[in-house]
Amino acid sequence: MKKLYMLLGISAVLCSCTSVDKGVNSTDYVKYNEFNVGKVLLDNNGRMVNAHGAGFIYDNGRYYMFGEHKLGGSLGNKALVGVHCYSSDDLYNWRDEGIALKMSQDPNSPIIVGTILERPKVVYNKKTKKYVMLMHLEERFGDTKKSTKVEDIYKEKANYSAAKIAFAVADKITGPYKFLRSTRINAKKLPVNDAGKLIAVKNQLDNCYYGWDKNYIHSSYQEKIKGHAFWFCYDKGQMSRDMTVFVDDDDKAYVFTSSECNATLHIHELTDDYLDFTGKFVRVLRNQHHEAPAVFKKDGKYFMFSSHCTGWAPNAGRLSVSDSILGEWKEIYNPCRGDGQKKNRTYPDAKADTTFRSQSTYVIKVQGMKDAFIYVGDRWLPDDAIDGRYIFLPVEWENNLPIIKWYDKWDLSIFNKNK
Ligand code: DGJ
Repeated sequence: MKKLYMLLGISAVLCSCTSVDKGVNSTDYVKYNEFNVGKVLLDNNGRMVNAHGAGFIYDNGRYYMFGEHKLGGSLGNKALVGVHCYSSDDLYNWRDEGIALKMSQDPNSPIIVGTILERPKVVYNKKTKKYVMLMHLEERFGDTKKSTKVEDIYKEKANYSAAKIAFAVADKITGPYKFLRSTRINAKKLPVNDAGKLIAVKNQLDNCYYGWDKNYIHSSYQEKIKGHAFWFCYDKGQMSRDMTVFVDDDDKAYVFTSSECNATLHIHELTDDYLDFTGKFVRVLRNQHHEAPAVFKKDGKYFMFSSHCTGWAPNAGRLSVSDSILGEWKEIYNPCRGDGQKKNRTYPDAKADTTFRSQSTYVIKVQGMKDAFIYVGDRWLPDDAIDGRYIFLPVEWENNLPIIKWYDKWDLSIFNKNK
């Protein structure tokens, strides 16, 4: 009898394997042992990994990737599905863990389908034992803003004017995440570094303080309202678009975000539970138009990869450094080196001056290896969003500063070779 149960058990396992729709290129056929940079990345079911603008977290011996699930065509630039989660134990092979945060069919939900939701990042809070997801969230506008019909969503013009950050929380890393709220940041608060200057030029105009550099106009942002190009929004709260979250060694967490019409980067401290802001923040790299912040720390120094503001089109990468997280950040250079991607028929311009045709999204700290970091960027394809590719490249060092070189293929042993 015992034997019969065992046999039944085994056949059940076999049946469940064969009945799963694995597609053609499943792990039965494909097992990665290296990064194939910019190539299609298949998950354990043989489907393309769908996690754009991704963030990564290492938890209980596994890496987790959270990113925007995109659809085909330009419709894919709006969120119709949600935040997709994958897990991996080697960073090469990714298991589909499903949709961690689902877009809502409720017309009154801030995450109604069709809303722009970008760059989700998950952090673990040791005190509350909760997983907190932060993301850039916009709002739908116009007559059809409450419609869940795909044809209405498709017709709506993408609108980035809400410029909010949103919070969701879960007990389990893979979710489901419960959406909490979206908000502008730190309304009626002044930054710890520039408070004096802002008060000195204070001019109440549509509830905002205006920037003091009246002559500065960035070509991508000709939002000249009464002659002023960008905004410090005191009453409404600070704008937040491209963002990331960085947890420091003392477990304090900070949001790095493109604020003031993307002109100035803000660093906002989060409360101990990571669910709100303490009110402490700084304005850095003022009027320099940084997007796509990806922050990491080595030997007590803070480093940030970021980009210029050119929409979905790639531009030259940027490295900035600081000795303290809320201190003065200084831009150093474009960290990309070398000739870039050769033999690339589709993208002839995948060179160092376009960050190898990518935009930063995260820097992964490799576990169990000293000073091993991986640059992760998106090769956006806004006309067919789902087909955007992921660029994983090793962070190398030159004169104690990080650089990024192109490799068609590479594996983690590179970090031992470079020692
Ligand atoms: C550049 C940003 O980095 C992306 O996340 C996205 O917001 C696009 N702009 C939209 O044009």
